Amino acid sequence: MKDKIPVNIPTLHDLLRLTEESKTVKTFSFYAPEIAGGCQPGQFVMVWVPGVDEIPISIALASRDGTLELAIADVGDCSHRLHELHEGDLVGLRGPYGNGFTITGDRICMVAGGYGAAPLRFSAAKARAQGRAVTVIQGARCATDLLYVRSFGDLGCDVRVATEDGSQGRCGMCTDVLEAILHAGAAFDLVLICGPERMMQRVCELTQKAQIPTQLSVERIVKCSCGACGACDLGGYLVCKDGPVFTAEVMAQTEFGRWKRAKSGKRVPLVPTVVAGSELLSSPLPDFKPVAEPLLQTMVCGIAFSNPLMNAAGFGFSGRLLYRYAAAGAGAVVTKSVGLEEREGYPNPTFLELEPRSYVNAMGLPNPGIRNYGIELEEARQSNVPIILSIFGKSVEECREVAKIARERGYPVAMYEFDASCPHSEFAAVENNPPLLSAIVKAIKKLVRPKPLAVKISPNIGAPVGLALIAEQAGADAITAINTVIARPVEQRRELPYLGNPLGYGGKSGKDLTVGGKRIVYELYRELKIPIIAVGGIFSAQDVLDYARNGASLFQIGSALVGEGREVFGRVKQDLTAYLRANGYQNISELVGDAHRR
Ligand SMILES: Cc1cc2nc3c(=O)[nH]c(=O)nc-3n(C[C@H](O)[C@H](O)[C@H](O)COP(=O)(O)OP(=O)(O)OC[C@H]3O[C@@H](n4cnc5c(N)ncnc54)[C@H](O)[C@@H]3O)c2cc1C
Ligand SMILES: Cc1cc2nc3c(=O)[nH]c(=O)nc-3n(C[C@H](O)[C@H](O)[C@H](O)COP(=O)(O)O)c2cc1C
Ligand code: FES
Repeated sequence: MKDKIPVNIPTLHDLLRLTEESKTVKTFSFYAPEIAGGCQPGQFVMVWVPGVDEIPISIALASRDGTLELAIADVGDCSHRLHELHEGDLVGLRGPYGNGFTITGDRICMVAGGYGAAPLRFSAAKARAQGRAVTVIQGARCATDLLYVRSFGDLGCDVRVATEDGSQGRCGMCTDVLEAILHAGAAFDLVLICGPERMMQRVCELTQKAQIPTQLSVERIVKCSCGACGACDLGGYLVCKDGPVFTAEVMAQTEFGRWKRAKSGKRVPLVPTVVAGSELLSSPLPDFKPVAEPLLQTMVCGIAFSNPLMNAAGFGFSGRLLYRYAAAGAGAVVTKSVGLEEREGYPNPTFLELEPRSYVNAMGLPNPGIRNYGIELEEARQSNVPIILSIFGKSVEECREVAKIARERGYPVAMYEFDASCPHSEFAAVENNPPLLSAIVKAIKKLVRPKPLAVKISPNIGAPVGLALIAEQAGADAITAINTVIARPVEQRRELPYLGNPLGYGGKSGKDLTVGGKRIVYELYRELKIPIIAVGGIFSAQDVLDYARNGASLFQIGSALVGEGREVFGRVKQDLTAYLRANGYQNISELVGDAHRR
């Protein structure tokens, strides 16, 4: 094994030891010093079974000698395959990801349900090593489902157990035990929770009443694991990056305990009795008021933008996340590409960082389907910035239907962007078939008029400028350039494709697109009459200025969000404003196409 692995590519590790802990949970031990050396209790790793999937698993223990332990429950496809492995088999690991528990105070209570005992065992080991008193309350259906009870005892924790069938400890739920000991006067400085969501919600109610600071580790579907795709959204927070550990106060302002998202992103209730309606709304947020920015405001396709920056399609998924982009300074927001039917996308791995700022993804266009997307758009509307709805489809009929549904339902959309160019899906065919592209653009345009339509192209076809001209002739109001560049990264040890896409293909984004993207925008500006929306490796104000001089009027930021988070909008705007002011410009639009006038 290499001494140091890149943080965001799975690396194969030998499975050192496999221990059966309960009916459904096994502990997997690895020698992984690059992860074990720097991780915190509460953080997670991604566990890859090549050819199957890659799943998030909390760190159950990490030792100074480099041993990493994971407790994995056999619940579905990937975890089942893991349970079938033997010592010596190879498993891909990468991480650690997310934040950990912040352990403070002398008296800590940890409440665990199911495999939630895993991260809490690591937390208890740390807290006990620091000399803190730890009470552990663990709940399970029956005695054989309990996990690490003896380990908690060996660490010197005060362990209380509740089983639903009364086969060990108190008969009932772990929340009953907590309620009883709080009622009896137990005092804690901090409560940490990990377990089923409804259980954690009940614990939060109890600790809120008792006014005890509380942190909990939550779960959502994790795909990219580093803040790129938005699959793990919970109230506009990203569980893989902002979490998985949150305070009870933060969770109380979200849908926590009410609903979660399917792999497609569709909202699904956590309580079986809730079927739809207001129960599936996010908690209300105040309307956001974008500030006027005289140097940056611009008018493109008849739409007024307070500034020309926005996220790239695929980096914003939920209405709440788009709202947060606007609040962080984006002048407009772009949705994930939405199609006619709900799609789960490809299995993981879906996102890799090949080297710093250089990424490849194969999400496979997961989306809840256009009929289910209205709720996100309604919530994004509170951002009060123009919303660009990205759509896709592989035939004229399909695209027409998507546009028709969006229009008939009155979705609050300022502009549409047609994704003709996802390089690693069956939808790439549109870009490779100019007559089809032309027919689709005409069909969508007819339906969405008078709203403008941008068409997004990639450099994967021989002549992107020629394709853009075809889109312009068919009625496109703008061209978005560029989508990701086709790639197929392969794991060297087993010579297997990394990505979960069955064919191994993905699209490169980030710094490798900066130079080529700027060239394509330069060439587009020479030939087109319609405005250009630049996307591809924009990390700085300098990139925006270069793209503007080459001919772009609006600028989408994608991969830079991974390293820098939504603060990137504020920083780039600040640097742009400083540049424009220092060089005597009245407005950024004066720069558009400047390179062609010299
Ligand atoms: C931060 C984090 C830490 C986790 N830690 C652990 C752990 O320590 N031990 C452990 O056994 N499991 C843990 N999980 C849950 C684990 O990732 C899922 O159970 C696993 O992804 C299921 O994959 P599968 O292919 O076996 O099941 P699938 O066939 O994909 O699905 C089986 C069931 O699990 C649900 N599911 C799938 N993925 C997730 C997910 N990411 N989060 C929640 N539910 C999911 C599905 O909706 C379905 O109901 C954690 C999840 C997260 C987000
Ligand atoms: C995780 C991820 C998801 C993406 N999803 C979409 C999408 O749904 N629709 C789309 O048109 N482009 C999508 N893209 C492409 C981006 O919008 C953008 O064109 C590309 O990433 C280049 O910009 P960047 O270098 O700033 O990331 C996605 C890219 C990534 C990395
Ligand atoms: S899984 Fe969290 S943003 Fe992609």
